[in-house]
Amino acid sequence: MNDLEHAKKARLRAYTPYSHFKVGAAIRLKDGTMVYGSNIENAAFGLSNCAERSAVFSLISQGYDPKDIIQITIIADSNGPVSPCGSCRQVLHELLPKDAKVILGNLKGETKTMTTDELLPYAFETFDEDNT
Ligand code: THU
Repeated sequence: MNDLEHAKKARLRAYTPYSHFKVGAAIRLKDGTMVYGSNIENAAFGLSNCAERSAVFSLISQGYDPKDIIQITIIADSNGPVSPCGSCRQVLHELLPKDAKVILGNLKGETKTMTTDELLPYAFETFDEDNT
């Protein structure tokens, strides 16, 4: 299965009774491990969690090292390749390696690939890279 297919599979696990907008994310690690995330909504709307953040938080919670991330693939039924929200850009920028690929896609098969610096230029940071 390729990474877009993994992200599609993750998308089917989304819990979206309010927006009905399902998003899936699949993270590939150096050793080939895949970690999935999907968006999970709540009746208290502000508590909803995006797919990208679900995936990264799940990865760390399961004991994987985010430094081993090669790429994250994110997919939705969007017009163009899905555009991650500002909060997710900030989280991906802090936790993914500088050279990791962010692959944005949609169900039509359109894709766009970039780094987290391209996704969020001039990101907020409180420490330098060597001091993590
Ligand atoms: N959503 C994501 O999962 N990722 C994004 O980057 C943008 C938005 C979700 C949040 C909410 O469940 C739904 O899409 C509609 O906003």
